[in-house]
Formats: sequence, structure tokens, C-alpha cells
Amino acid sequence: MCGIVGYIGKREAAPILLNGLKRLEYRGYDSAGIAVVNGEMQVLKRKGSVSNLEEFMSGTVMIGATAGIAHTRWATHGSPSDRNAHPHMNVSGDIALIHNGIVENYTSLKKDLIGQGYAFTSETDSEVLVHLIDRIWKADPSLDLEGAVRQALRHVEGAYGLCIVSSREPDKIVVARKGSPLVIGIGEGEYFIASDAAPIVEHTNKVVYLSDGEMAVVTRNNYTVKTIENVEQEKRITELDFSLEKIEKGGYEHFMLKEIFEQPEVMRDVMRGRVRLDEGRIQLGGIEDYLDRLKQAKRIVICACGTSWHAGLIGEYLIEEFARIPVEVDYASEFRYRNPIVTSDDVVIVISQSGETADTLAALRLAKEKGAMVMGICNVVGSTIARETLCGMYTHAGPEVGVASTKAFTAQVIVLFMLAMALSKGRTISHDEIRLYLRDLADVPDKVARILEQNDAIKEIAAEFKDAKNALYLGRGFNFPVALEGALKLKEISYIHAEGYPAAEMKHGPIALIDEDMPVFFIATRDNTYTKIISNIEEVRSRKGRVIAIASEGDSEIGRLAEHVIYIPQASGPVMPLLTVIPMQLLAYHIATLRGCNVDRPRNLAKSVTVE
Ligand code: G6P
Repeated sequence: MCGIVGYIGKREAAPILLNGLKRLEYRGYDSAGIAVVNGEMQVLKRKGSVSNLEEFMSGTVMIGATAGIAHTRWATHGSPSDRNAHPHMNVSGDIALIHNGIVENYTSLKKDLIGQGYAFTSETDSEVLVHLIDRIWKADPSLDLEGAVRQALRHVEGAYGLCIVSSREPDKIVVARKGSPLVIGIGEGEYFIASDAAPIVEHTNKVVYLSDGEMAVVTRNNYTVKTIENVEQEKRITELDFSLEKIEKGGYEHFMLKEIFEQPEVMRDVMRGRVRLDEGRIQLGGIEDYLDRLKQAKRIVICACGTSWHAGLIGEYLIEEFARIPVEVDYASEFRYRNPIVTSDDVVIVISQSGETADTLAALRLAKEKGAMVMGICNVVGSTIARETLCGMYTHAGPEVGVASTKAFTAQVIVLFMLAMALSKGRTISHDEIRLYLRDLADVPDKVARILEQNDAIKEIAAEFKDAKNALYLGRGFNFPVALEGALKLKEISYIHAEGYPAAEMKHGPIALIDEDMPVFFIATRDNTYTKIISNIEEVRSRKGRVIAIASEGDSEIGRLAEHVIYIPQASGPVMPLLTVIPMQLLAYHIATLRGCNVDRPRNLAKSVTVE
């Protein structure tokens, strides 16, 4: 989940690399570093954010270098510090390397290297790679950098996205990928390398995605891609279809707020061409050929992590409600290690915004091994999960930069809604019912826009609870996963301890926590669980808990029970999560910013978790 940038061309490398790092900072921000080749190697690295590195660099001479690599780190082995920052160098200082991923056998490699006299300067697993390359190159000087890297990688177990430069061969960058994404951007007489397209898009929209097990040598004039076993590969050039403006903040104070506000538009994009209101049908290109097989599934298993897992839970409710196919939702990390029963009669759906989450990817591979049909729901086009699934649907939410997922979540829920409809068609619900539900879905973006108009009022409510130590989120039915998501959002970005619970389960534990300092956020919209929720609110009130309700417009009763009410437009139960989650996102955002937290880069979290 660290970020990688590389540049080779005619321009000054350092500013391009620094700028690229800033665009990637959401992938990790424990430390940052840069190496450029200009006759000799120059390496600078610093604990903390990219701006720390930039400050440290001012006044140093990296001028004239037109090739280099840079890295922003999210620590896995070794604490965040200057010396653990990448790039790592060999002892003679003529090879520099940056690495995303984990070298699983680094302890034994390190022991061997120390035995041969290698001195390590960091606690990272990554440093073994540069010494290993050095040792192999020294042992066989007839090799070039590419050959030395290739040989070194044969000894490496684990995951990597690697970029390596050497002042002995100053006109190339060698890159390799196994389990950690890498993209090459193709410019005019210049090339860019990055761990995702964000730093590349301002320079070129032509990219080549490396696949697992591939290496590339990139020079000023061309690039060649081979497998690690040295077999040449034909690569397809992909045209990116998102603009720089889309990955910048667009006038908002934070990416997270921008992404929350983008939701009406994103929702329309997700449905565009797929929801055919006039005909009352759904057209899902990515799974069309597999729909019959999907409908025949004995069981659907949904695997995901974090917010995507919450979307999966809503998917369970939707698919069971409409399509009457049994659904189980698993944390990808549990699924892969608990010897699950999966057969060729099952369909496994993996959901991932980034398409790179290591646990979700491993769950996908395990499900495939066990013979299940695997379908993906991803946001990042061309991501590993998107490529390794048999079929799937993109969420089309655009790049999500804020670490706390917002628009990707609602896009996932819409995709799952459309999938549930497609699975039901001709089987479990009538054409007229489908038409009605699609109408309801199509109305959601306008309703979300209306909820967003209450941003200022929601901020005022947030101000009252910004100093809370704990918070409880309660919902039932379709809104139970939203309670989980509301609690996750708050704890991720404000560091307030929060729990989401099915409202009725409160009696079996969390009720003991309620006192006059405890904010309890109730999702109490008008549906078949409404009267039950009202009883739960009474239970909290009688213990002096502070009730904040998300309720349906026109509910005249709830104001009497709750200290604050956020009213949202009425809609049917199945689409309700798409509305109720919006105040949850805004509450978390405002509480966190009022506490002075950096919502786009919450401590210890990363956007894309490509390690187990
Ligand atoms: C990290 C992110 C979460 C995200 C989760 C799953 O924890 O901080 O926002 O929900 O990973 O990510 P994915 O890309 O697989 O949806």
C-alpha cells in the first residue's frame, strides 16, 4: 500500500517525482524518499509526509537528473523513520530500490547476506532486495541490472512492486511486479512508472499495466516487458478515461468531502446505460454472458474487507430479498484461512474498491481453486481483482482518494441492487415490481442531493458530539449494515470509539454502556421495523442516552423522542441504505474535522491494503 513513482525522460526528474508522490500520498505517509541518477546516485529520504521531504530537499542539488524513483511508505516491517524510508541502497551506493509489498523470507535472506558481510542500515524487509541484487551482480559482472534483478527475484518469496535504478546503468529503470500493482505511463520521449495511475494522468493517458510475474526495463526511448523467467510479453496500451481534475480536490477542503458530494453524480454514472427505466429492465454488460449461471447458483458467497464488506452485507439482504438465493458474507481474511466449504455450485462475489486488497485477492484465488465461479465488483479499472475474476461489474465511481471510503460504498450498493434485480428477473419478482424498484433506485441521486443540502445543519449537530469518547450506531434490516458503516466511518477518521449494532441486539450488551454522555445514532426511517426502533429509542432515552435519529420526512412523532433529527426523503426499504448512509458520512466527516483530524489521511490507515 505504499506508493511508487518513477520517471525517465528529458525533463528534471525530481519535481515530477515529488509531484507524483503527492498524488500518491493517500497510499501511505509514514515516510517518503527519492533517488535520482545524474552521473552518480543521489538519495534523500525523510520520515513523515511528502512535504517534509520537499522541505528537506530544498537547497540540495538534484538538478540536471532526468531519471529517478520515489516512494511514499506505509510501514509493515520497521517503524516509520528516516532510515526505514525507501529508497534503500547497496553498500557502494550505486543501486537504489523502492519496494511495495512484503518479502516473506526476508529473515533467512538477511541472515545469509549478513553472513557474507552485508551491513544493513534499516529494519525493513525491503532492504534485503538491494543487497541481494548487489551480491548477484558482483558475483557475475557479465550481468546487467535487469539480469541481476531477475536472478535475485528467483530467491524472493512474497509480494512486490519494485523500481530499481543504478548509476552503473543510468539510462534505465528496472521494474518488477508480483502481487503489488505497477503501471507504466507512455509519454513522448519519456516514461512514468507508478503504483496506480494517479501520478501519471497529468502527463499522459496511455498506460500499460504490468501483470503479476512481469518485469520491465524502461529507458528514454522504449520499454520492454518480459516475465521474470525472461519470456517477452506483448502488452496492450490502455487509455485512461479520468482527468486530472477528477483526482484533485475541486474546491473542497478535503477529498473525503468532495467524494461525499460527488455521490449524486457518481450514482447516475453507475446506473447509466444499465438501468433501462422505460423498458423496466437492467442491462449488465460485464455479467450478461454469465447471468444464467449466476441465477442457478446454489449459494452466493460475498467476500470483502472494510467498507466493501458492509456493502456486501447489504448485498446479502438485497439478493435474498429479491432473488431468493442464499447468501453468505465473509470477511475475506477469515474466508481464506478457515477452510471454507465452496463448490462449483457456488458463486463467489468479491467486492473491492481498489481491486488490490491482499485478503480479498487471496479469497478470490482460493474460491477459484475450489471450482466456484468468481465475479468481481471493483472500482479501479484494470486492477488485479478485476482482471482475475471470470466476470464482473465496475462501480464507475471514479478515483477515490480519501482513505475513508464514501462514494465507492454507495456505488457498490447500487451495483449490488442492480445485480439483485437482474438475478430476480423472470424468477422471483414480477416485471412490474422490477419497474417499481428501478424507479425507486433512479430517484436516489436526487434524494441524496437533497440530503447533502443539510450539510450545515449536520455540521451543527456534529459540533455537539465532537468531544464524545464513545458512540453507538443502531439500525435494523437493510439499515443494520449502515449502522456498522456509520460507526466505522467515525472511528476511522475521528478516533472516537464507535460500535454499530442491530438495534434489537442493544439489549444484549451495549445497553450497559449507555449513560448521559453516550451519543446513540439511530436509523429510524419509516419501514416495517419502525415501531420496533421507536421502542429501542425509548430504551436508550430511559437510560439518559443522547439520541440522534435519521428519520423519514413527514415523521412528526420522532422529534419528541430524539434530541436531534436528520430528516431524509422517503424511499422503499431496499434503497434506503443509499440515503441513510449520507448523514452518517457527513457526521463522521464534521466530527473529525472539528476535532482537528486529518480526514483524508487518518493515522495508521491506508487506502489500499496490499498486505495480509
Ligand atoms: C482499507 C480502506 C477501507 C476499505 C478497505 C477495503 O481498510 O481504508 O476504506 O474499505 O481497505 O478496501 P477495498 O479496496 O478492497 O474496497
